[in-house]
This record gives sequence, structure tokens and C-alpha cells, in this order.
Amino acid sequence: MPSYPIMTCFLLGGTLSSGQMAQAAEGAPQTLRDLGARANVVVGTAVDVDALAKDPAYAEIVASQFASLTPENAMKWAPIEHTKGQRDLHAATFVAQFARDHKQTLRGHALVWDLEIPSWVDTSAPAVLSREQFRHLTETVQAFQGQVATWDVVNEALDANGNRADNVLARALGPTYIEDAFRAARKADPKAILAYNDHGVLWPGPKADGLTRLVGGLKGGGVPIDAVGLQSHLHLVPDWRIDWAGVRAHLQHLASLGVAVHLTEVDVRTADLAGGSLGRQLAQAQAFYAMSRICRDLPACTHLTFWGFTDRYSWVDRTLGPDDPLLWDDQLQPKQGLFAVQDGLSGKPWSGCSTNWAANGDLEGGVGAFVTPGGRLVRSREAAAKGEYGLRSTDRTETWQGPRLDVSQLLAEGVDWRIQADARTTSGQILRMTLRVEDARGETYESLLAVSGNGAWQHLDTTFRPDFSGPVRRIDWYIEGPEAGHNIDIDNVSIGIVCPTF
Ligand code: XIL
Repeated sequence: MPSYPIMTCFLLGGTLSSGQMAQAAEGAPQTLRDLGARANVVVGTAVDVDALAKDPAYAEIVASQFASLTPENAMKWAPIEHTKGQRDLHAATFVAQFARDHKQTLRGHALVWDLEIPSWVDTSAPAVLSREQFRHLTETVQAFQGQVATWDVVNEALDANGNRADNVLARALGPTYIEDAFRAARKADPKAILAYNDHGVLWPGPKADGLTRLVGGLKGGGVPIDAVGLQSHLHLVPDWRIDWAGVRAHLQHLASLGVAVHLTEVDVRTADLAGGSLGRQLAQAQAFYAMSRICRDLPACTHLTFWGFTDRYSWVDRTLGPDDPLLWDDQLQPKQGLFAVQDGLSGKPWSGCSTNWAANGDLEGGVGAFVTPGGRLVRSREAAAKGEYGLRSTDRTETWQGPRLDVSQLLAEGVDWRIQADARTTSGQILRMTLRVEDARGETYESLLAVSGNGAWQHLDTTFRPDFSGPVRRIDWYIEGPEAGHNIDIDNVSIGIVCPTF
């Protein structure tokens, strides 16, 4: 196996992440809107009107980082026309003004959606629903003409099999209501980019196929649709590996139909991944990287909008349960996901998968976070496999006494990890790389790798995908070996993530 690329930037026992380190080296970090502009991608966020009005730190990030704003709810029909005949555009206008002040475009969301019909509309009376729906569409588009660059004209009109959903709008307005809505929107604002937007259509499957059929049909029938929005709410679960190559091919296929491709509601849930919080962030960052990189690489992918940007305010917590699905944390501090998006938009490899997350793994900068449950650890020249220093575990009396790292914050499900170390013992007995896990199953030991000790340096190298049973209380990684009388030397420990391929 080729040796693993190592960036000497350490987490365990250190504080800087790779992205932060890169930024420190290059000066002021670049904003997402600047990075997007360079890649021909408009980078946007959904905005919460309350937070925008009341939380200056939130507003500051909205203003500086994003090129496009989507009112998260303020342009939906039900909030606009809570009461029949009293259209309230205050919230939407507030967002529009903010966007103007900060030279941002607006993405209007969403004109025709069966879930946002005001309760006063009598949906059992087709003529009423039809009249009110098209009136709302036309008045709203005209009210923001010249300000809203892109409209989500129809939202979520496909069922799980990719067929046109048999919803209240289809029943009342007739089977061609999607076509009619696009024509009405074009008439109301001939300059706006008109999009169809749906969820569960990012990766290949029956619903994605249905989207391709729908868009192909609309285009073929001369319906004025310019773009397709893929919502991209991801929910990571332990044994799901997203088929990113399939995602790329699917987006290329959509683009070949003659529409722009927009990733519109990006967020990534990780609460179902057991393990360390950093590992969960890295699993999430990997998905953020893939989406931004695939969008950046595809000329037709011109828009990338996150469904909010900070865990402080996310619809996920309010609607689906506690999670941290976004790019900045509750304290508005950048997360791994932000660095990953910066890498993706720049067309760089994701730095998260070339980072060694083990503190001072090469022992050159100190002992780092290594400890031992028995005997002593000595950092010494004699114990070096490479460079000047290595680590010797000496005065051992038990097999399991060897160099150890607490990786409780680091290892998590949803990621393929690769752990490497050079190790040596004077005994001919086995050297082992082991994980000790305390989780809902109790205390378990997993032997990751075993090699013969034989007195020479061995390169231990293993890839694995954790399967924990949350909540995880503690995870230790260690090297063990022969019993009393033999030392174990280690050097060049690296804990990394296997880069996704697509
Ligand atoms: C969500 C908002 O984020 C929530 O605040 C609101 O309570 C419900 O709607 N797909 C969409 C978005 O198209 O409009 C939804 O937004 C999330 C799913």
C-alpha cells in the first residue's frame, strides 16, 4: 500500500484544524461568496427573518459569506396570506432589503406547494383553489420583479416513486398544473429564472429517475423551466455510503436536458452516527465537500444554497429532532463542514482526508496525547523509525500495556478510517492494534490488526468502518504486544479518513 499522505497538523492534544491552519498561513479566509464567484457558483443560504432582525452576529455572516438569500418561510403562501385577502409581505420585503443592501440576489421559495396552502382556502372547491393559487403566484412574482433572480415555482410535486403526486393541487388544478404554473410565472416576470424544486432526488433511484422524466417532459413540451433544484437534505446513517459518482452522473444527465442544476437546501444530519463529535463533523464535512465539489465541477451547476448555515437556528432541530446539520456551530464558530465547502468550491482535494488527526503522531513535536495504562513511556532517539524521535513503552508487565490514545472525540461511524503506525518489539510475539470501546454494549475490544513482532520495524496499516452502539462513553486506541520484559517502540502514528472517490 502507498504510504498515507500526512499533513502535520494535529488535533488530539492540539487545537488547529487543517482548514484553520491553511487559513492562518494564507491570511484572511475567503468568503464562500468569493470562492463561489470564482467557480461560477452562486452560494446562498436560507434565512430566518427573526434571526436576521435580532441576531447581529448571524446577520454579519449572512452579509459577508453569501451571494444569494432564500427567505426560509417568508415567501411561502401560508405565511404571506395567513388571513384571506390580507397579504403580508413585510417579512419577505425585509429580506429583500437586506439583500439589496449587501448586493445579494434573492431566490424566491416556493410559489406552488401543496403543503403551504393557507388554511382558509377551500381545497375541496377546485375553482377557488385554482383562482387563489394563480392569483398568489402572479402577485408574489410581480411584487418582487427585478429582485428575485430565481423562483422555485413548483415545490415537491413528485411522489416517492418519481411519479406526479396525486396531491390536492393535482386534483383541483388538473394534471397539467405544473406546466400551467411555469407559464404563469414566466408571464408574471419574463426575466426570472424558473426552477422546479424537490427532495430525495440527489442520488440515483426511482425518484431521481422520475425527476429526469419530469424535466425532460417539460423541456420537450416547451414549458418555460430554466433550472432544477435538488434539495439535498442529507441524513447520514452508519452503513450508508453515498454513491457520489452516481450523483455526479445524475446531475450531468439533468444538465444535458438543457436546465441549470441548483443544489438548493443543503444540510447534513449526523445525530444517528455514534461516536466522537469531531468524527461526526468529519462525516458531515465529507458530504458537504462532495456536494460543493461536484457542483463546482459541473458548469451547469450554478447555484448552491444551504438551508441555513448555523446550528444555532436549523429547521432540523425544530422539526426532525436535535442535530447539528450546518456549517457553523451554535456559537457561530466554523465547523469542519465550512472548511470542506471552501476546499470543494476551490476545486482542491478535501484537506480533511489528508490530515493526520493524531497529535504528534511522528513524535517529533513531543509525546502529544500518548499515555500508557502501565509501565512508562519514553520519547527517545532509539525508538525512532523515521525522523529524530520515537516512543518507547518500557517497564511493561502486561500484554495490553502499550502506547495509547484517547480517541473518544475523534472516531465516529459514517466514515472509513485508516490508522497506520510503525511498531517494533524485541520479542517474536504478536503486535496488535486494538480499540477499546465503552458504549451501550458495555466494554468491548476490537483487534484491528495483528502482525508478528520479530524485532524489526513493522508498518501497521488498516482501514475500518466503526460500528458502535451509542451513546459512546469512551474509545481508546492502542498498541499491545508481548508481556513483561519487552519494550514496544512506535513511531509515525497517523489516524486519517479515507477520501471518498467520485
Ligand atoms: C421548512 C422550514 O425550514 C421550516 O422553518 C418550516 O417550519 C417548514 O419548512 N423542503 C422545503 C422547505 O422546500 O421549504 C422546508 O422548509 C424544508 C423542506
